[in-house]
Amino acid sequence: MVVVWRTAALSAGAVEYGPDAALGLSVESPEPSIEHAVALTGLSAGTEYHYRVLSGGAVAADGLSFRTFPVPSLDGEFRVVVFGDTGTGNQAQLDVAAGIRLSAPDVSIHTGDFIYPRGGSDIEMDRKYFDIYAETISRSVIYPTVGNHDLDDGGTVYFGSFHLPEDSPGGERYYSFEYGDALFLILDSNQGMGVGTAQYAWLEEQLAGSERLWKIVSLHHPLYAAWLAVEANRRALDPLFARYGVDLVFQAHAHFYERFYPMRNARAVAVGEDPDYQDPDAPIYVVTGGGGGSLAQRNPGANTAYYASVYHHVRLDFQGPRLLLSAVGRDSRVFDNMSISKVVAPVFHRGDGDGDGAMTITDAVRTLNFLFLGGSVPSCLEAADFDNSGAVDISDGIHVLNFLFRAGPPPSPPGSPTLDCGFDPDPLGSAGDLGCETYTGC
Ligand SMILES: [Fe+2]
Repeated sequence: MVVVWRTAALSAGAVEYGPDAALGLSVESPEPSIEHAVALTGLSAGTEYHYRVLSGGAVAADGLSFRTFPVPSLDGEFRVVVFGDTGTGNQAQLDVAAGIRLSAPDVSIHTGDFIYPRGGSDIEMDRKYFDIYAETISRSVIYPTVGNHDLDDGGTVYFGSFHLPEDSPGGERYYSFEYGDALFLILDSNQGMGVGTAQYAWLEEQLAGSERLWKIVSLHHPLYAAWLAVEANRRALDPLFARYGVDLVFQAHAHFYERFYPMRNARAVAVGEDPDYQDPDAPIYVVTGGGGGSLAQRNPGANTAYYASVYHHVRLDFQGPRLLLSAVGRDSRVFDNMSISKVVAPVFHRGDGDGDGAMTITDAVRTLNFLFLGGSVPSCLEAADFDNSGAVDISDGIHVLNFLFRAGPPPSPPGSPTLDCGFDPDPLGSAGDLGCETYTGC
């Protein structure tokens, strides 16, 4: 966790922090500065920390707290807020900011354009961003996406304001982070992102290399929108997102809210399931450009599931294999809802047909019982299918006995209970997949 703050005059900075109000730990900035960025070390995952900030020995901010990112897990629950096109400092922006505070996100994404009308200065950034979201920023990370107006001054204010992951060839221009069982990809639509660009190659590598259940993208200029969509970027990225199972793509620049049906090759799919999708296996594009900039009014097309020219933020509730999206208006009322549910097969040990976490003679008995004596169907057929032949048959019972008493061959992957639990190597619903309703031995 990095704590960042500015002071009017040169001063020595320090952050005191700890798991309770007594604090106890302390890190000092390396040298006097007006731009302080202090990395806190020795933190545990998923833990609440209290902290306070000191400049020149005097307390600059006190009574603050944050929670560190959790260890990724499938059953993790967390909340992400997405909003953008904010920088006016008007009442609409203040109202949306109050709603974001009420949503109390674990982490947020800003979809770009922090200062209107054009770029700006550090003072403008303070007035139109840091002051307005101060409470949210003090206790959770807001990841920025670079918008067109953020580059009006060459990006000096924007890049001077944020300390971002540098895990890409684009430095802080585009990057990724993980939270829970989700991968977030923050892209830069101000530069080339088509096939052959460094950004495209990095993006494909990130998507191909991730085993996270959820994949979420943010970029400023929209690929699908009733206004300002960039057709060339859509043609390049749409197939990539679909191929690698991107779930949601957040976009901005057009100042309204617009949610599309799942899109595959520019065609809407699973339209009849709206708004509660069963793993549509095609990305859902959402325009969220209503954070404070003057609203635009356009006519949505047939692929749009919901459109409203209103000030808002988007709330994402990750609940294990389910994801709920709520669009929240400036009055903090939810005006649009959508959910995506995924079927997640349990992990198991092969050869353990009775699911007790061990391979014993009872596994052979259980299988033969089921096959010949009218015993109940094993709750995890894949666990009973010792040789992963695609059928539970007499040979599976014999294999168990052979393995236990005659040094016969071990079960197929993910292997016997002496190894780690694992998934069936056959994809869900494929010809060789027998399914595994529940397995209690992991
Ligand atoms: Fe923009």
